[in-house]
Amino acid sequence: MPKLLSAAAVEQYNHDGYFFPTAVMSRDEAARYRRCLEEHEAGTGAPLQGNWRHKMHLLFTWADELVHHPKILDAVEDVIGPDILCWTSNFFIKEAHSPGFVSWHQDSTYWGLDPDDVITAWVALSDVTPENGYMQFIPGSQKVDQLPHVDTFHKDNLLSRGQEIAVEVDKSKAVGIPLRAGEISLHHIKLVHGSDANRSNDRRIGMAIRYIPTYVRQTKVRDSAMLVRGVDKYHNFDDEPRPKADLDPAALAAHADAVGRQVKALYQGTDKQEFRA
Ligand code: NI
Repeated sequence: MPKLLSAAAVEQYNHDGYFFPTAVMSRDEAARYRRCLEEHEAGTGAPLQGNWRHKMHLLFTWADELVHHPKILDAVEDVIGPDILCWTSNFFIKEAHSPGFVSWHQDSTYWGLDPDDVITAWVALSDVTPENGYMQFIPGSQKVDQLPHVDTFHKDNLLSRGQEIAVEVDKSKAVGIPLRAGEISLHHIKLVHGSDANRSNDRRIGMAIRYIPTYVRQTKVRDSAMLVRGVDKYHNFDDEPRPKADLDPAALAAHADAVGRQVKALYQGTDKQEFRA
């Protein structure tokens, strides 16, 4: 018996490579997480940048709570089973009227994870619309092989290397993914997806949480991850500690260590030492 998704939803995920929307929290609860993020940004005087966009759940108790959210984990468990690691989380924030976009890509390109049983729960912390740059998916594309990508390092591209698929993507097949704050979409690591710039008057805020079953391996570096449900009898990843208090020294050290490993994997073959701004 599925825990949260219907059998038809799981079937659709397996067929198309995605499923949406699933409500996991109230609008008020989503607004509270947004406030936590924006209070931090107000304190630093700038939007999240660079390494801080990644694995924030190692730094802040509210982000840790989000990656452990029981309803999100129920939906994820329905697809990948009961023993679940959180591999990473990434904030994808598009400021109002900003040029930031995400080129067509497959997440699998540089992550080094094997096999490809890797699912993203993309959590909307604002409403997500065509106007503010919702994600677009090519249904069924997770079943094609890994496609060749080229690195552009384009300044407005929100991806680590500005990577994009080197062959023509048939955009007429694209499906847009609108979400209300508090809903998630789920997508497979090999699904072809991208998104346009935000042309609206408000920020578009999403936290992409990447979950793997414990049997998945990292082929590029000795990586770390956090067990968020079930048991890990494989120990393919070093354990990451949950933050006891926001930005305490132990949390900062754990984040620096974990992000360092991820940068090594994602930027392998380049001279980059940290995530792009
Ligand atoms: Ni992606």
